[in-house]
Amino acid sequence: MFGSNNKSLVGLDVGANSIKLIKLDHTKTGYFVSGMGVRELPAEAIVSDEIRDRDAVIFNIQALVDQVDPKIKEVNVSISGHGIITDKFTIDKKTGAEAEQAIIFETEQRAPFDIDDVTLDYHISESSVDDNKMDVLMVAARNEFLDAYLDLIEECELKPVLVDIDAFATLNAYEYNYDVDPERITAIVNIGQDVTNVSYLVDGALHSTRDVSSGVREIFNSIQKEFRLNLELATKAMKGELGESIDQDMLKATIVSSADELVTGVEQAFSWFKSQAKTKKVDWIVLAGGGALVPYLAEHVQAKLATPIEIFNPLRNIEYDPEMFEYLQPEKIAPLLAVPIGLAMRKAKKKK
Ligand SMILES: Nc1ncnc2c1ncn2[C@@H]1O[C@H](COP(=O)(O)OP(=O)(O)OP(=O)(O)O)[C@@H](O)[C@H]1O
Ligand SMILES: [Mg+2]
Repeated sequence: MFGSNNKSLVGLDVGANSIKLIKLDHTKTGYFVSGMGVRELPAEAIVSDEIRDRDAVIFNIQALVDQVDPKIKEVNVSISGHGIITDKFTIDKKTGAEAEQAIIFETEQRAPFDIDDVTLDYHISESSVDDNKMDVLMVAARNEFLDAYLDLIEECELKPVLVDIDAFATLNAYEYNYDVDPERITAIVNIGQDVTNVSYLVDGALHSTRDVSSGVREIFNSIQKEFRLNLELATKAMKGELGESIDQDMLKATIVSSADELVTGVEQAFSWFKSQAKTKKVDWIVLAGGGALVPYLAEHVQAKLATPIEIFNPLRNIEYDPEMFEYLQPEKIAPLLAVPIGLAMRKAKKKK
């Protein structure tokens, strides 16, 4: 009752393009951002979830922590992409150990991997069609991938206290900041450098999630080539920071023509979802990640998928002092912060 009971949690998102860190104070009324930072990595330090330059990644994580708050030790982290498999199935209603056994059994029957090689997590929801059944959203992370990642975090002298997946962190941030409309099927699309996470909300609850293995790297490469820009200028062009100093029509054409793989990937994910959920359409897209900030990309995706897009603001219901982070312009880069904000909101579950 006296003094501050407030707890702070830190979300650390190590992406292929940049590392993001958010420190959230959990207050009685919500959340307050007490630390925020973004640090770009060298271009090929991480490619498609593969850490190619371990030293550079460690150096940059440590530099970012030092810059935001050197006292940070415990962090919530997340993984995404190839190392993760998600699946959804329906089983008879069970609880506790019985439920766990049934989920492991079902996973073994369906999974393209050996159960001993993965770490399992799952999310249970009531079946909407049968009262005696429950829906299980299974997430399996390959141990090899997970362990290598956790080792890396520990090498930064940090302690990973919670591991999530990017898709769920994004969803977590979304559910806190927006009222989910149960009438509308929502796709939350987090476009990153090499991976795009897509999650669907049906009847107001998570239906399923999928990682598409492409992001905006191809767009970056095309811009660099078409305009003959060095890395620094191409990076600026991706952020829309070159303004009229480059031909905007040509920029748009370059972005549109190099977004095919990404758009096709998301289209395929949507088709798969529609067949699974037995629905004809996705009502709208909530766009997060750096991809939401690349000029002309959101409008292109909206047109190609014929689905309205809203740009996700994960800071919508979160307090922060704009002056404290003026140099970052949080209101401009907000979609980029979805994952670390979602992570920093999560309290670790007590292990049984
Ligand atoms: N203001 C900005 N700051 C940083 N990146 C931006 C900005 N505006 C646009 N971008 C673009 O966003 C892209 C990176 O998106 P994001 O940070 O979501 O990817 P990532 O999380 O690093 O990668 P991944 O999730 O695939 O591992 C980059 O290509 C970058 O050019
Ligand atoms: Mg990312």
